[in-house]
Amino acid sequence: APLAQEESFVGSIDQGTTSTRFLIFNKDGEPVASHQIEFKQFYPQPGWHEHDPTEIIESVNQCIEGAVKAFEQQGHSARSIKAVGITNQRETTVVWDKQTGEPLYNAIVWTDTRHQNLVRKLKARLGAEQLQALCGLPLSTYPSVGKLLWMIENVKEVSAAYEAGNLCFGTVDAWLVYKLNGGPKKNIFVSDPSNASRTMFMNIHTLKYDESLLDFFRFDMNKLNLPEIVRSSHPTAYGKLTTGILSGVSIAGCLGDQSAALVGQKGFSPGRAKNTYGTGCFLLYNVGDKPVISTNGLLTTVAYDFDGKPQYALEGSIAVAGSSIKFLQNNFGFIEGSSQISTLAATVPDNGGVTFVTAFSGLFAPYWMDDARGTIFGITAYTQKGHVARATLEATCFQTKAILDSMQKDSGHALAELAVDGGMTNSDLCMQTQADLIGIPVERPRMLETTALGAAIAAGFAVGVWETFDELKNVNTTGVTTFTPKIDADERNKKFARWEKAVKMCKGWAED
Ligand code: G3P
Repeated sequence: APLAQEESFVGSIDQGTTSTRFLIFNKDGEPVASHQIEFKQFYPQPGWHEHDPTEIIESVNQCIEGAVKAFEQQGHSARSIKAVGITNQRETTVVWDKQTGEPLYNAIVWTDTRHQNLVRKLKARLGAEQLQALCGLPLSTYPSVGKLLWMIENVKEVSAAYEAGNLCFGTVDAWLVYKLNGGPKKNIFVSDPSNASRTMFMNIHTLKYDESLLDFFRFDMNKLNLPEIVRSSHPTAYGKLTTGILSGVSIAGCLGDQSAALVGQKGFSPGRAKNTYGTGCFLLYNVGDKPVISTNGLLTTVAYDFDGKPQYALEGSIAVAGSSIKFLQNNFGFIEGSSQISTLAATVPDNGGVTFVTAFSGLFAPYWMDDARGTIFGITAYTQKGHVARATLEATCFQTKAILDSMQKDSGHALAELAVDGGMTNSDLCMQTQADLIGIPVERPRMLETTALGAAIAAGFAVGVWETFDELKNVNTTGVTTFTPKIDADERNKKFARWEKAVKMCKGWAED
């Protein structure tokens, strides 16, 4: 008798800021196996943050092996994994040698602020005020461009490779695709628009590299090698895995992690939004098929491009979210694991007058203050660890409130509720605080792996595991937890005014 056809599955590489994961999803969008590895964070100087690009590749390969083993132990066959999607931390900048395929420096992570002075000079350059309308991003330390310029100016191996025309630049997606395909041998050097839109090299309207942008930054295009921009869902452009247990499986989807989370939350129509509380926290609001350039401190980004008809989002980016909890754990020793943050916060009824502006990387949206640094206000002899824990959670929630206010001004619409995901949303106390501070319900899905799911959807569409958005309509719809606001507008406004006062007082601390 012929063998029964096994169900199709899709793998998802989720390469985040602090950990790498591989998850395997079934056709119902449920994860059936996964493996996660935390990798090393390098903080060589204040404001510097690096990753080892080779360690990142190794972590991906180990996660694939680990998850597929678990998958096989459930009786499945690796052959039923039809494609793999990639989702990744965005903006983080990797440079490598075109000939050898080896990195020329550590990756400079999106949170890094070492190039603050360089960015200040760029802001003063003629034409700086036109950049955002072209690429969607305001000039700050956040996009890839400043990190790349810093490397060319300061690392001799990088400048030598640039002069010789051997310098390859990529965001993490491009690096992964290149290496997983075997490096220079195959030379698959591509990126998707949701990642390329974070560099400041791509025209947000045409999804192509823009000469006027590259000219503004004074790049010589004969010397710099950039990945080709291809759509986020593609059966062949991203090549195949070439080693390990899934060797030969196509990489068929690629999305920056925040775009992936929007897709994983099925934010396919204009007006849909999600807020993901990962290392940082990122609110993306689908604005449809035309980019909206913000006048209120938000970014314009590509949500996804599955079929040559790109969808755009307005984005509010918060640099520090989950990383502030890790900070209380690793640097202050307040807790032993992130999950203890709620318990610590619940030891006190309120923040006891403490406000913590967690501006470790300056403040991103909507403030864009490169020169702010983390500041704790309101400490007295009464202050306990619990107060600081509450103030830490509130910092992300207040920034989300500020972003929603900007979003309303830019779009003319107020959200009716906020869909959330990411590690910090496990804290009921944090999500209740969030609902209180924004005054609308917060909705947490049962399955929180929406980022990985988004990349699986991009890959699954390319190989026909799913064909229409409609097939996904029942994915992750049961077991939603809703947090409703419990404070009135007066109290909310008072709390927010104090936060805004604290933000103003942080300004300029890191000025030279
Ligand atoms: O823009 C940076 C973002 O992509 C990082 O995401 O989940 O690692 O905080 P995450």
